[in-house]
Amino acid sequence: MKVAAFLGSPRVNGNSEILLNEALRPIREEGHEVTIFRPAVMNISPCLNCGGCDETGVCVVEDEMEKVYDAIREGERFIIASPVFFFGLTAQLKALIDRCQSFWCEKYLLKKPVPEGRNGRKGLLILVGGMKKETGFKCGDATAAAFFRTINVQKHEALFYPQVDAKGAVIKHPTAFNEVMEAGRRLVLRQAQDDRNEGLR
Ligand SMILES: Cc1cc2nc3c(=O)[nH]c(=O)nc-3n(C[C@H](O)[C@H](O)[C@H](O)COP(=O)(O)O)c2cc1C
Repeated sequence: MKVAAFLGSPRVNGNSEILLNEALRPIREEGHEVTIFRPAVMNISPCLNCGGCDETGVCVVEDEMEKVYDAIREGERFIIASPVFFFGLTAQLKALIDRCQSFWCEKYLLKKPVPEGRNGRKGLLILVGGMKKETGFKCGDATAAAFFRTINVQKHEALFYPQVDAKGAVIKHPTAFNEVMEAGRRLVLRQAQDDRNEGLR
């Protein structure tokens, strides 16, 4: 399966990058094709609400979003890993998400959602935050859910790690590595396997 991951952090080797790599470990081991997009180092401008995609579902801005659009169309599994910034997703990641308004037009105005594919479409959200407060996770999850539904990902699992602040602090977390790895493993289960497992849970 093709797996597209969106890494919201501008901090290289930060906590969300560490967790993303752990989640990807079993996915890579199984031979799935992984592409990581890090909007902090990409040329992605924010949505202009110019209406250019209303009737076509195609964004008129030309930049590196073109690679992201292709990955979203061709992918079957999607991961967002991000820190919480001011109770939401990072600005860099939010710009990428906002530019998916063209998929929103395609799905809701033109009634043409991105096709499901053979294995269905599923998502995983991993958020880290320095604070104890859950507010940022709830806000980030709401934005991620809106993004996932827009790109026709109906279901996503979410894992939140509060009180993880200093660079690399997540390495000392007692359960995070195992949890994200298991979530990665579940993400790439085929639909039939997944339904069976859900019946057992
Ligand atoms: C601009 C900025 C805003 C932040 N806002 C929040 C916040 O609202 N809530 C929170 O829990 N942590 C907040 N943090 C802390 C980060 O989420 C935390 O340091 C996280 O571990 C960074 O992840 P990374 O290493 O993957 O970049 C903020 C950090 C920065 C730099």
